[in-house]
Amino acid sequence: MVESLALDYSASTQLVDMFRRHLKLCKVHAGEHVLIHTDPGSYPHYAAAYMGAAIELGADVFQIVHPNREEKAVIDAWKRADLVIDVSSGPHAYGHIMRESMDSGTRLQRIGVAVNTMRRLFPTQELRERVLAGQELMKNAKTMRITSPGGTDLTFYKEGRDPMGIYSVSDVPGRWDIWPSGMVCCAPEEHKGGGVLVLSPGDYMLVINQYVNDYIYLEMNDGRITDIKGGMQAELLKRWFAQFNSEDSYRIAHVGWGCERRANWLIPGQDNECMYANMQIAFGSNLGIFKGATTLTNSHIDFPSLNNSYWVDDIQIMENGEFLLDELRHKGDVGITTETGGTQTGHGSRPG
Ligand SMILES: [Fe+2]
Repeated sequence: MVESLALDYSASTQLVDMFRRHLKLCKVHAGEHVLIHTDPGSYPHYAAAYMGAAIELGADVFQIVHPNREEKAVIDAWKRADLVIDVSSGPHAYGHIMRESMDSGTRLQRIGVAVNTMRRLFPTQELRERVLAGQELMKNAKTMRITSPGGTDLTFYKEGRDPMGIYSVSDVPGRWDIWPSGMVCCAPEEHKGGGVLVLSPGDYMLVINQYVNDYIYLEMNDGRITDIKGGMQAELLKRWFAQFNSEDSYRIAHVGWGCERRANWLIPGQDNECMYANMQIAFGSNLGIFKGATTLTNSHIDFPSLNNSYWVDDIQIMENGEFLLDELRHKGDVGITTETGGTQTGHGSRPG
């Protein structure tokens, strides 16, 4: 979670200013209730720094430490808060606590990566606009088709499913976001669609934390992976799925594309997921942050993939990993608006 683990209590003080600017983007103002959710594995400096930042903005801030956030009292606390800063150490996007809190209007903000990564990928207005443009494109589509030079040919159906645009800031009631991010994604209908997903060399398998080194072929029918073929990594993947003893582990969870030009493919994790013009597809749980999604199981795995082509209905938005539409293309480094009315340029983050 942290690239350089700072143990001294003073580490929090170096984060307060950046977190205050982030909370301002999240529209935190005096009198709001900000809940910082932690568990015994949370990085303590994040919670302390967010508390300091929220106090500076005049918010009513409190922190809970709880190892099981699905318990009723915790769900109630989330629902009563205006904004939850989720710095828990476990799985973070799926479960009834997400859905119930979002439905009640709480803004949810997930924080779970290294300080250096957050500084490098501090949210920008330019990213937000491209993400929202992509969300609008995906919104009214009924189908999505994905192909790749390696042989991927997938079709999914999404009638009635709203896409999510994720841009690192939870600034609207009922919204979930994760910093850093930069994605447009959707939970398609879970029992329809399929074809073949080919993971090609250089693609990434989150959770098992490996870059693909030889082609892996995943056959899909009626929304589920029904066969996995390939070499050693395909065998590892088979074992990974099998350990959960659940048909739903193989079920389509979400699919979409990344938007973050500053992401670095060589830094495993969130950078892969939000990588500019990558296609990410995931399987397993999706009940939680995706409205209308139905799968809740013990697993979730993401495959960020390069060089794909992508259609929403009959509109092709991406070809071999390049955006085809102006509204999705990077516009240059446009800074965020700061609390002083000025702008930050470059990577939009403070040095040091
Ligand atoms: Fe995912």
